[in-house]
Amino acid sequence: MGIQITPSILNADLSRLADEVARIPSADWVHVDVMDNHFVPNLTLGLPVIEALSKHASQPLDAHLMIEDADRWAPAYAEAGCGSVTFHAEAAKAPVRLAREIRAQGARASMALKPATPIEPYEALLPELDMVLLMTVEPGFGGQKFLDLCLPKIRTTRALMRKHGVETWLQVDGGVSLETIERCAEAGADVFVAGSAVYSADDPDAMVAELRAAAEAAAG
Ligand code: DX5
Ligand code: ZN
Repeated sequence: MGIQITPSILNADLSRLADEVARIPSADWVHVDVMDNHFVPNLTLGLPVIEALSKHASQPLDAHLMIEDADRWAPAYAEAGCGSVTFHAEAAKAPVRLAREIRAQGARASMALKPATPIEPYEALLPELDMVLLMTVEPGFGGQKFLDLCLPKIRTTRALMRKHGVETWLQVDGGVSLETIERCAEAGADVFVAGSAVYSADDPDAMVAELRAAAEAAAG
């Protein structure tokens, strides 16, 4: 799999979700941020909205669960038809069991790390995961500034994936734009969430294409 662009709808017009998703036909996935006002200080949407949106989106949904008690709730997002389900390492009590449950429901299993959470303690879990999401801002809100301090962790994570010979995707999320995507791609990321960069553009789909071209050029 090459470079993939997964726009976040967090900063889209949430009153017109199906129309907003229709504006990004060339996106590989639609990234949906689920927040519970406990794991992060913000509240967005949950299963009923995801179920409704999945009937209208032509791309698979990439659910990013910023919720407590991920062990209890994450498998339902896979069951609801999300193509990929990401839980946070900081919120999962049994990440191996949870990843297996998500895969058993037919979805890709993914684990996210906040900026201050290291990847090394999770090295042995890599074969259980289809994707690792590295947050490049503190989770909770769109439109924040990219944290360059996360770049070494992107490199380390890619090196560990190579060491284990796994095909795990490496997604970055937070502050990804034309200004920052090249740094992420050079460091080894291959799946890029972009929220405000895409939905603040006059032509969101053209921005998806520009981001993809920039990442492909930087990844070589
Ligand atoms: C933040 C979310 C992100 C957010 C990205 O907690 O996980 O997906 O929507 O938005 P931008 O690209 O504006 O940082
Ligand atoms: Zn996200």
